[in-house]
Amino acid sequence: MTDDTPEASQDLSALLDDVRRHLLWQEEAAGRVLMIDAKAALELQRSAPSLRARFARTQGTADAAPQPRPEAPPARGPPPSTPAARPEAPLPRPPLASLAPASRTPGAGMRVDAPPPGAATGERPTLDEVRRELGDCQRCKLCSTRKNLVFGSGNPRAELVFVGEGPGEHEDLQGVPFVGAAGDLLTKMIGAMGYRRDDVYICNVVKCRPPGNRNPEPEEIASCEPFLRAQLAAIQPKVVVALGKFAAQTLLRDSTPITRLRGNWRTYEGIQLMPTFHPAYLLRSPAEKRKAWEDLQAVMKALGKQPGSRA
Ligand code: URA
Repeated sequence: MTDDTPEASQDLSALLDDVRRHLLWQEEAAGRVLMIDAKAALELQRSAPSLRARFARTQGTADAAPQPRPEAPPARGPPPSTPAARPEAPLPRPPLASLAPASRTPGAGMRVDAPPPGAATGERPTLDEVRRELGDCQRCKLCSTRKNLVFGSGNPRAELVFVGEGPGEHEDLQGVPFVGAAGDLLTKMIGAMGYRRDDVYICNVVKCRPPGNRNPEPEEIASCEPFLRAQLAAIQPKVVVALGKFAAQTLLRDSTPITRLRGNWRTYEGIQLMPTFHPAYLLRSPAEKRKAWEDLQAVMKALGKQPGSRA
């Protein structure tokens, strides 16, 4: 099924070289700088060849529409219990909610709130297409023990996406993410932010349950990651909340511990990303809920959201 012939790889490498050259030219010409994630494109080529071209365009090839999202709000200082040094600290940026449309000038240090990449040309994959491509996935060994593949649920046009680690027992049985105890807490957190569960989109790094709720293994993450990236490319949310180490480290390709990542805005493919603690961890360590709530409040501020009544 996969299109991983040497010719196809050469084609894609040539395409990526063209893109890199174009981006260098853009940079030299003081234009907007885009970063193509070459590794993600190659992974998707292997896993889902029919989404490849559309995904590549979405991720910033030369003919893609501008990236849609303003940059991240200012990073808050590290929590008192963590070391002060954070080498990858993003540059301070105004929060989304404070950007009046008239002030969104391309080239003024922020990305414009333009239509999502590919929107004009219809090149962006839809969630349905990503789901169809995933099919009855047999790409890793988790397929042999799962009861149901858990793709994701919620609003396909959500401004806010939560990414967890992988399905647990309840999710595996129902085919729906975050429906067990951790899911109950996540649902409360979403309500406290002023959203309903079906306003947002919820998915996981791996779509099939690791047996006994063990951690997903690197090969399992590698098999599933292109689909997570394609889901986010399809939805184009304003903010992604990465729940826990696996979501944050996978999306950011950064092995910094979650205790240091959390609470600090990052950018994922032009989308603001807030790493925070996983709800299952919060159930085990309720004293950490305060920090997670601070992280979610920063997200609410960025989205111009008032607290909900279900806190
Ligand atoms: N934990 C996760 O990371 N995802 C789920 O869907 C459920 C529990």
